[in-house]
Amino acid sequence: MKLLTIVGARPQFIKAAPFSEKFRKVNEEILIHTGQHYDKNMSNIFFEELNIPKPDYQLSIGSGSHGTQTGAMLTEIEKVILKENPDGILVYGDTNSTLAGALAASKLHIPVFHVEAGLRSYNKLMPEEQNRVLTDHISTLLLCPTKTAVENLKSEGLVENVINTGDIMYDVVLRNIDFAETKYNSGAFISELISENLVFDLEVGEKFYLSTIHRAENTDAPNKIIEILQALESLDYKVILPIHPRTRKIINELSMELKNVLLINPVGYLMMLYLTKNAEMVITDSGGLQKEAYFLETPCTTLRDQTEWIETLENGWNVLSSINQNEIIKHVKRDLNCYKHPQPKHFGDGNAAENIANAILEWRA
Ligand code: UD1
Ligand code: UDP
Repeated sequence: MKLLTIVGARPQFIKAAPFSEKFRKVNEEILIHTGQHYDKNMSNIFFEELNIPKPDYQLSIGSGSHGTQTGAMLTEIEKVILKENPDGILVYGDTNSTLAGALAASKLHIPVFHVEAGLRSYNKLMPEEQNRVLTDHISTLLLCPTKTAVENLKSEGLVENVINTGDIMYDVVLRNIDFAETKYNSGAFISELISENLVFDLEVGEKFYLSTIHRAENTDAPNKIIEILQALESLDYKVILPIHPRTRKIINELSMELKNVLLINPVGYLMMLYLTKNAEMVITDSGGLQKEAYFLETPCTTLRDQTEWIETLENGWNVLSSINQNEIIKHVKRDLNCYKHPQPKHFGDGNAAENIANAILEWRA
């Protein structure tokens, strides 16, 4: 089978790693990188660390408004599909690269396989919610990470070719956590972060929180960023904040003096796993990071009003916080009763890549 896979943004590179390895053992995969993310530490670093095959096509679309970016991707992906004539297209998640890939294939009557189908925040203002709903409804095979995702699709009338494969990000965590722990133990993570950032001030053994912020709803309004940063500034431990470039731009314009928040460049996946596992808590608006915190049994405070990953809320492992300084501090300082509750296996058993590959091959047979 000839499969055309589309990636473009950081979390998609990470999800592609185990699937590409599995699928290429017996089948042909052509990889398209749309170029939605292009900085070295938003793109190349993941290909190198996770041994992801070099893209066959680099579309170099870059940044832009939603319409400009998605439209440019649609045009270029269509050209590749016409040239390669694949048996199917694989798309991951809910970015503009996902929607462009699904739409280009669907219009050409090429089957679309959607990994991470069925997630919903039920907030239609989110660009990701628009992307995932539209992608699901033009997909041929809906590959869901959880039972909740299957149920969400059912309530929209999507019941055929829906499969619960487990969560592919769980595969990646299980494969890499031991190596990450060994690589960055005994303060090695501090030396690396010092060498790569102008200022990084943390002692070996010092407790810390880990935070990321990049969601449009938080970054498009400076007052929200200020509220979040003020909360992080007043916490009891330092906050390591690998900053997404869109958020970096806004923070630079605010010229706020930060003492407790250690702003650093985006880090690689292994460093991120190490930090997530060893943080006192994760404070984030990322989708993927909420789950990684859960997999690694680190409590999380999510800086959003909804989450697609509602399983993580059970027993308080993850808690949603509105964007208000006092609310954020209250949630971070909550009693951590979650440690008394073992986590059920909501996300599969770490074999999602294989389940996805099998589902695609069986669908075609
Ligand atoms: C995108 C996805 C989001 C996902 C996130 C992962 C959409 C609509 N959103 O959001 O679902 O959670 O990726 O990180 O697809 N930029 C750079 N260098 C880069 C990449 C981006 O400087 O390598 C800056 C540009 O100013 C760009 C801005 O970041 O305009 C936003 O990038 P974009 O890819 O449009 O959206 P993300 O916020 O990254
Ligand atoms: N991540 C990373 N380095 C960073 C920040 C995040 O490797 O500096 C990883 C993180 O561990 C997770 C993924 O990127 O695997 C999540 O991506 P992001 O938060 O950008 O997108 P989302 O999951 O919200 O779509």
